[in-house]
Amino acid sequence: MANTESVLLSETHEQVAVLTLNRPDAMNAVNFDMLNAIKAEVASIRFNPDIRVVIITGAGEKAFCAGADLKERSTMPELRVREFIYTIRRLFSDIESLNKPVIAAVNGFALGGGTEMALASDIRIASMNASMGLTETRLAIIPGAGGTQRLPRLIGRGKAKELIFTGRRVDAREALDIGLVNQICEPNLLMDEAMKMARMICEGGPIAIGQAKYAIDAGLETDLNTGLAIESNAYWITIPTKDRMEGISAFLEKRKPVYEGK
Ligand code: COA
Repeated sequence: MANTESVLLSETHEQVAVLTLNRPDAMNAVNFDMLNAIKAEVASIRFNPDIRVVIITGAGEKAFCAGADLKERSTMPELRVREFIYTIRRLFSDIESLNKPVIAAVNGFALGGGTEMALASDIRIASMNASMGLTETRLAIIPGAGGTQRLPRLIGRGKAKELIFTGRRVDAREALDIGLVNQICEPNLLMDEAMKMARMICEGGPIAIGQAKYAIDAGLETDLNTGLAIESNAYWITIPTKDRMEGISAFLEKRKPVYEGK
């Protein structure tokens, strides 16, 4: 895949798209250019059946993403700030609702919008040098790209309030302990670990994984009975698929299945 914009690098490794936030001199802070580049890339990945999993990471060794570009912010009139917040919130919702899994490979600082981007991802793997936090209240603002909603849903209301009120950063070990990340590893192994997980996901049925993601995300936002109905409908979609028959045939024939997403 071609590089879209220099602020965002995009490459594919077999069925895995790796998006790299590429402003290392600014700790990969998100400016309007980067927002637009990610938006375009996510939109194209949604309808690209050749991509099964997305990994998001940051260029360089210091940062995943230090949040919104505060230098750009300092030049913005209020209306433009509103536009930025609206756009980034919608973008992270697009990432969250992408019909394929998204893994955040958190290398270094992930502050403010950086942590919010990781929260909008399905799975988070952090390197041992990660430092994560919703630090916005220290700037007299609040997390505006989903952080006040996704952090408590992931780690619980009390811990989320503590972290958002204090603006405290957590290191990789604490992030793992509180359930903010799924896994931690040495910095030099981060992309290998993310790729290993992505490849394992690619072994499953594409429609099944899309439906499982939908059932979990939509179901968790409702009561159990409605959630079970959502699960039932999601299961139903997998029944008439060619892949389901392939899964059974492969089992009976003692071979690896070859799924087509059909
Ligand atoms: N927006 C714009 N530029 C940023 C940035 C941001 N969010 N975060 C870091 N940078 C820039 C710095 O201004 C600096 O640029 P300069 O060399 O032109 O001065 C460069 O990235 C390196 O950052 P620096 O602060 O010198 O590195 P550090 O290792 O001392 O600290 C951080 C790193 C990430 C802890 C610190 O930069 C920071 O706190 N950034 C702001 C994070 C934040 O509050 N994000 C929430 C935004 S809502």
